[in-house]
Amino acid sequence: MLENVPLAPYTTFKIGGPARWFADVADEAELLAAVAFARDRGLPLFALGGGSNLLVSDAGFSGVVARIVMKGVAASECGEEFRVAAGEDWDGFVRLAVELNCAGVECLAGIPGTVGGTPVQNVGAYGQEVAETIQGVRALDLRTREFVEMGREECGFSYRRSIFNTTEKGRYIVTRVDYKLRQGGAPSLAYADLQRRFADAAAQPTLAEVCDAVRQIRRSKGMLMVQGEADSRSAGSFFKNPVVPAADLAGIAVAAGLAEGAVPRYPAAHGRVKLPAAWLLEKAGFAKGTAQGRAGISSRHTLALVNLGGATAADVIALRDHIVAVVEGKFGVRLEQEPVLL
Ligand code: EPU
Repeated sequence: MLENVPLAPYTTFKIGGPARWFADVADEAELLAAVAFARDRGLPLFALGGGSNLLVSDAGFSGVVARIVMKGVAASECGEEFRVAAGEDWDGFVRLAVELNCAGVECLAGIPGTVGGTPVQNVGAYGQEVAETIQGVRALDLRTREFVEMGREECGFSYRRSIFNTTEKGRYIVTRVDYKLRQGGAPSLAYADLQRRFADAAAQPTLAEVCDAVRQIRRSKGMLMVQGEADSRSAGSFFKNPVVPAADLAGIAVAAGLAEGAVPRYPAAHGRVKLPAAWLLEKAGFAKGTAQGRAGISSRHTLALVNLGGATAADVIALRDHIVAVVEGKFGVRLEQEPVLL
């Protein structure tokens, strides 16, 4: 167990104070040991993955951080089922799947972070989400200190949600995720930007071509982690896209000074609509590249808050609170933060 380890380098935001205790955990036995260490001292335990959806406070964390570095990918005989250890790099798994001609995660290329984080927030992009391909999850139940295996249904997936970040938050530490892909399957072209890109293609694009296109789109939006790029010091989307009753659209249109039909929206369950938070921000006056001290809005995508260099968690939180208040004042919609706050 290491002491007083700065956490900022372990996050894509590059923000945050130290962990009182810190250990890399490479297998389930080491995880149990870290849990026992925390229990013996009456300290909280935090499982750290890729740190790509995380904002660590300036004071750091006074408990035990267990960084999940478990590795290993096992493919089934049929070649389309994969058991992937939680510490594997997510994008590495996407590359492997595409190399093996397995469809189902090609639109999730270029997303930073580790495999273990994917079920927690039901990672999604460009018309795909991991809920479609996750078969099951193995996790440590901190209540019983036993490992459990649960099927997709038990994970309770919906948009950016699962039991792991809602009803059972803090109870489980994911150690392995099982995906079922489609060997030789067609790529998903659900997202308008992707359809446009391949509109003139004579043949159906390959998985690799769709994967590359997704990387290019992500890069153009500053959503690809590129060393040294200022827009990469972020946690991706900082707010969730709010889901509101369709009846609210009229008021939102008036507030934006537009006709109701001009408000972008996606259909959601139970007659509700999902609004792009980036659009709400822009209409509330937050342009790309806006800065407030050392924190700011990405120059390429309004939804990503960025560390302009030397930002503190307090800087980011001040900007967040300002945005939430202004958007709520204008549209009556309360934005929810996406990254985990430690
Ligand atoms: N828009 C703006 N300004 C911008 C960007 C977008 O007004 O700078 C508006 C436009 O109306 C645009 C709409 O927002 O049509 C949607 O934008 P985009 O397609 O970029 O997607 P998003 O809703 O902002 C979501 C996910 C992303 C994911 C993309 C692509 C959330 C919170 N975010 O963003 O996920 O990559 O869709 O599918 O659901 C993440 O969660 O960290 C993340 C990056």
